[in-house]
Parts: sequence; structure tokens; C-alpha cells
Amino acid sequence: MQEYKGWKEFFEKDIDKKLSFFQKNGNVFDVIYSQQFTITILERLFKLSDKIRTIAKSKKGTDFLQTILSDKRAMLFFSQPSTRTFLSFLNACHILGIKVSEIRDSRTSSEIKGESLEDSIRTFSSYVDLIIIRHFNENFAEKASWLLNSYTNRSIPVINGGSGKDQHPTQALLDMYTIYRSAKTKGGIDNKKVIMVGDLKRGRTIRSLSRLLALYKNIEIIFVAPKKFQVKDDITKFLDSNNVKYNKTENLEEVLGIGDILYFTRLQNEYDIGNESEDIDYSKYYFTEKHLNMIKKDAIIMHPFPRRNEISFTVDNDPRALYWKQSRNGMWIRAALIIYLFQREDLAMNFQS
Ligand code: NCD
Repeated sequence: MQEYKGWKEFFEKDIDKKLSFFQKNGNVFDVIYSQQFTITILERLFKLSDKIRTIAKSKKGTDFLQTILSDKRAMLFFSQPSTRTFLSFLNACHILGIKVSEIRDSRTSSEIKGESLEDSIRTFSSYVDLIIIRHFNENFAEKASWLLNSYTNRSIPVINGGSGKDQHPTQALLDMYTIYRSAKTKGGIDNKKVIMVGDLKRGRTIRSLSRLLALYKNIEIIFVAPKKFQVKDDITKFLDSNNVKYNKTENLEEVLGIGDILYFTRLQNEYDIGNESEDIDYSKYYFTEKHLNMIKKDAIIMHPFPRRNEISFTVDNDPRALYWKQSRNGMWIRAALIIYLFQREDLAMNFQS
């Protein structure tokens, strides 16, 4: 396959050195890494999400929201399975009046005829104003953004909707938004103890979330995982250099009682190369009814979904189980993010119901 000149050099740079490439005029332009978000941007997005969901409560408001980006078109290119990320982006676009095209299966695109992904991206960019990508290849969204910014004069925003084992920045936004909403009555996000459970080695949601949590004061993260699937160095190094306290353990019950935020994830066995998932007893990392009285009264229980057995159905009606709200929050924060990317925040914030 051909390769565009310059990609390799760009890609190999430290992430911190690349972040400005995804910005324009001081604003985030392409959403590739969660490190692009500062507290200021996060809080703006949280407030904007709160505002648009309030506006959406009336028909007048819902009709108004559909005018905010009615002049824009978006492409959803999701070649890796997705339910929530796809549907919440699609519905975020509907809320804002954006017209959407989609490819969910590469077999229906010219990829099957040997077209490079680069040419597919350039083609999409000829038709739309925003591309949202989920792809099995790590870094594919980054490559798309690099290509459009470096080689074309139609550099439209690209949003990473999950790329390989790597990052899932908009999932981290909705996770943080969920924490923000629940922490409003609990002194804010600072000083929270966060317990992350599961396949932390290959789970991309926890990689992105850890980076956003690190922006807040006095956060402590406890990584609970089988030894084989413990969090990797990329995260621990990042936390070390940002002075975030963390611990690792294999024993869930030992730490359940100290968590303010309990974040469960599934085994990511689609990334198995051999049969590394097979001899793991993952049931040690399941949260069931019996655990409800071991956790803090005001703790919250989260899961990015899809869930298998990590949290039993019998936990769903406990007021601390926030995962269903968490999914819905994804639609609102993604709508807010898209408004922000097109710099139409004032339109929404100034709306009087
Ligand atoms: C996550 C993902 O795709 O990384 N799902 C999601 O987007 N909500 C988590 C997962 O697949 O386990």
C-alpha cells in the first residue's frame, strides 16, 4: 500500500508535541486525544450540555436546537462494532439539525475494491463538514485528521469515536460529565477516589478517562485487575508525571468500600492474540447485589457498556447505579462537543425559553 509522506514522522512525535496540530485559532478542531481537553473546555462543555438538555425539554426548544447546525452535514464512519457511541452521535446530530451519512460496514464501501482508507477519508471530506470515526486500527482517526490538515484544503473536523485499544476521548467526556453531574452536591470532582475495574490493559475507556481525571485536584485512582490485564505504563507514567496518586490491586472487595466512583469494564477479548483471556477468572471482578452494602452510601457505579456480567441486573435499580444515565449523558455531551467544534456555543447559551 502507498503511504503519504510525512505521516510516520508526525505519528512518532510525543503526543504532547502533536496536540497543537489538532487545534485551530486556540480551539480544539479535531478530537483525537483526551489530553486535548483542559478543565476550562470541560467545564464549558458540561455547562453547554446542561443548557441544551434543558432547552430540549420543550417543543419550542427542540425546534430551536435543530436550527443550530442545520447548515451542516456529518459522516459517521464506524467500521468497528458500536451501539451507544454510534447512536448517541447520530442522535446528537439529529438534535442539532445536522444531516448524517453513514458507513458502518467497510464491506459496503470501496475499501473492498482495494481503495485505501486515506482515499475513503478524502472522499468523505468532499461531501460533509464533519467526520466521526470508529476504527479497529489504532491511530486511524489521527491519521485521517493529519491527512486532511496536511494534504487537502478541506480540513474538516474529525472526531475519534474509539480507535483500537488506544483512546476513546468522547467516552471520557461523557464519563466526566456523569461524574460532574453527580458531584454537584458532593463538593465537585476534586478529591475523589476512583476505582477502575476490569481489563485495564486493553480497555481504551479507562485510558482516556484517567487522563481527564488527572486534571482535577487530589484525585486517587485504584486500578483493580487480574495481573495480566493491569493498566500499562503509558497510563502510570502519565499519572506519575501529573502527580496523581494511584494503586494497583487484584482484590476488588478489599477496596470497594473506599471508592467514590466505581468504574467497571468488560474483558476486551476481541483483542486476544492467543488465548490469553481463557484462564482468567473474571468473575472476581463482578459487582453483584451482595456488594451494595460494602460501598459508600454516596458512591456512584459506572460502566461504559457493553456489559456482560460485570454488574448484575439486580444492581440496576440502586440509586447509585448511574450507567443508564451515563449512556444518555453521552448524547448530550456529544451534541455539546459538536456545537463547540463549530463555534456555535453562543447560540445555545443565549437561548431564552
Ligand atoms: C467501549 C468501547 O468501545 O471502547 N464502549 C463504548 O464505546 N461505550 C467499551 C467496551 O467496548 O468495552
